[in-house]
Amino acid sequence: MAIYIDESQHIFHLQSRVTSYVIQIVDGFPLLVYWGQRLSEKGNLENLVPRLEKKEPDSMPQEYPQYGTGDFRSPAYQVQLKDGSRITELRYKGYSTGAGKPGIEGLPYVYTESDHEADILELELEDAYSGLTVLLQYSIFMDGAITRSASFKNNGQSTVRLLRALSANVDLYGKSNYELLYLAGHWAREAQLQRRPLGPGGTSLGSRRGMSSHQHNPFAAVVSPGADEEHGEVFAVNLVYSGNFHAEAEVDNFGVVRLGIGLNPFDFCWMLAPGESFQTPEAVLVYSNEGIGGMSRIYHRLYRNRLCRGVHRDKERPILVNNWEATYFNFTADKIEAIAETGSQLGIELLVLDDGWFGKRDSDNSSLGDWVEDRRKLPNGLRDLAERIERQGLQFGLWFEPEMISPDSELYRKHPDWCLHAEGRRRTEARWQLVLDLSRSEVRDYLYNALADIFANVPVSYVKWDMNRPLTEICSAAALPENQQEIAHRYVLGLYELINKLTTAFPHILFESCSSGGGRFDPGMLYYMPQTWTSDNTDAVERLKIQYGTSLVYPVSTIGAHISAVPNHQVHRETSLKFRGDVAMSGNFGYELDLTQFTDAEKIQVKEQVAMYKEHRSLIQKGDLFRLRSPFQGNETSWMFVSEDRCEAIVFYFQVLAKPNPAADVLQLRGLEHTYTYEVSGKSGHVGTFHGDRLMQAGLIIPPLTGDYTSVWFKLRAAH
Ligand code: DGJ
Repeated sequence: MAIYIDESQHIFHLQSRVTSYVIQIVDGFPLLVYWGQRLSEKGNLENLVPRLEKKEPDSMPQEYPQYGTGDFRSPAYQVQLKDGSRITELRYKGYSTGAGKPGIEGLPYVYTESDHEADILELELEDAYSGLTVLLQYSIFMDGAITRSASFKNNGQSTVRLLRALSANVDLYGKSNYELLYLAGHWAREAQLQRRPLGPGGTSLGSRRGMSSHQHNPFAAVVSPGADEEHGEVFAVNLVYSGNFHAEAEVDNFGVVRLGIGLNPFDFCWMLAPGESFQTPEAVLVYSNEGIGGMSRIYHRLYRNRLCRGVHRDKERPILVNNWEATYFNFTADKIEAIAETGSQLGIELLVLDDGWFGKRDSDNSSLGDWVEDRRKLPNGLRDLAERIERQGLQFGLWFEPEMISPDSELYRKHPDWCLHAEGRRRTEARWQLVLDLSRSEVRDYLYNALADIFANVPVSYVKWDMNRPLTEICSAAALPENQQEIAHRYVLGLYELINKLTTAFPHILFESCSSGGGRFDPGMLYYMPQTWTSDNTDAVERLKIQYGTSLVYPVSTIGAHISAVPNHQVHRETSLKFRGDVAMSGNFGYELDLTQFTDAEKIQVKEQVAMYKEHRSLIQKGDLFRLRSPFQGNETSWMFVSEDRCEAIVFYFQVLAKPNPAADVLQLRGLEHTYTYEVSGKSGHVGTFHGDRLMQAGLIIPPLTGDYTSVWFKLRAAH
């Protein structure tokens, strides 16, 4: 990868192994004149788009568009000056280049480990009248991923109001017949794939909930008509952020598609005093001409290796058992130890004690904020329980919901103003709880000390960091009136500061984030916590869609997936243990039920599942994912994981409902080495020895499956 600069034409060519991204400065405006498959020519890149000679802002493919001087489309930013005007004209001032990638203070970001991994381009823009400067920061990675962020600096004499500050904007020529792909849903139904034709006008996605949300993931892609898992063009954006975001795709009157993503401008206003800077979160842009699957694999590798951090990044993740659906709030230390004891016999590695161990929390209506063990349930304390679990041979994990406060808690009685609230107004409760004001340092300090104290005294190896309600009354008792519209963002910055401090101080702890399942499944959280509880919906049929959708952007190592009891607690469906196991094994595997209730026959099956997962855990968690059949398109779902050296693979195939007189299916596999010979085996033994090209072109025969909720898997090992 490299950055080629044509000084005479003011052209910047960001070139990776597979993609090119070309910016040209015209009339002082940076324009995106090309983004797509790699252009081999380093220079000679003028006239890549039409109409530029007209120099009309409204028809130019702007890199960081502004409103008020003739571009009538959605702008990337807006600033209000002291005189009330909202006109700024950022013009190119200069550039710099470098190797590697700079970090971002206080925000999560994709990083490099050596300067060879990425190249940097920074374009400086200036509004001469106000003295505002904006640094557009780019890094291009070998695989073609491009990170973008904008840094505003007020060099003027008076405070300006930053009303809008997206992280990235791309204007794409000739794509008006393309489609918009995104992920939508709600609680217990996250990451549902949405696809619709683009047309004149705009489509916007986003969150105003203070969290990235179950409703929309901070991801959007413009895809060529008919693009599938292997073919077609994909232009994707994903925001490394966990709060209110906004993404928009707008087709203008010339058929140019404007795709932008960043902080949600709704209810946002940042007061930027003279000399101060404001940095937007980072956006990660991915282009693929190998379809949606190609895009996913670029995101997966980047996020697995250069977004997730810490000692757990490259480690195989433990198989856990969580007591939530086993006991809810009703447990004793003996019960938890009994689950761990059975878990140990079955090969499970970690026990997670979920909600209900602190304060007087017998239901969800009290005690959040009082992070002190409940001696009624744990008579000898938390440390004693953790040690009992460890003596059973399992690591001990613990649930927290640190961002919350119950009105019925000691903390609330002591600090009623520590929650987000507007003076004199109702405090909207959700699940009986309010949200702590993480924009305040004393609140963050309290939480740090409360948790650090436990981590220092109890052998905690894993933390489930939950967050179970959206933000309302987003006001801070500690902020001035003019700063109140900063609080939603300051909340997220406060959260990042807190979790950065905790994860740095306790690097051995594996953190998993959760927000009523996938309400905050975003790259921002993954930077601090390398896995996320994907959904509160543990029904295996529902999980096919949820995990498939989530895998569009996020690597399998980040996707928490557990086997739960039947009838399922969310949808009351009965599915076989085998089916539930195969679905959960396609993620970060665990159990979420009372293991002591298993029959002997079930225990044998669970032992096999655990052994199977351990054997293939590295392949599943670190391999390349190829999605073969979509649950959004039919009764069958299939995906496979292929090792980096292509010597090993595992294929999962699921059938939701039985079919009369079923026929065999033929599955064209992907990602194998054409010339390798693979030994294929299933649960009942050797299936055959086949060439990679045969398996990918002619396909693997899947025998007819009988019954609802059935599944099979096949292992492939290169015999070359
Ligand atoms: C929501 C989580 O998603 C569940 O797994 C569980 O931890 C509950 N919260 C506990 O209150």
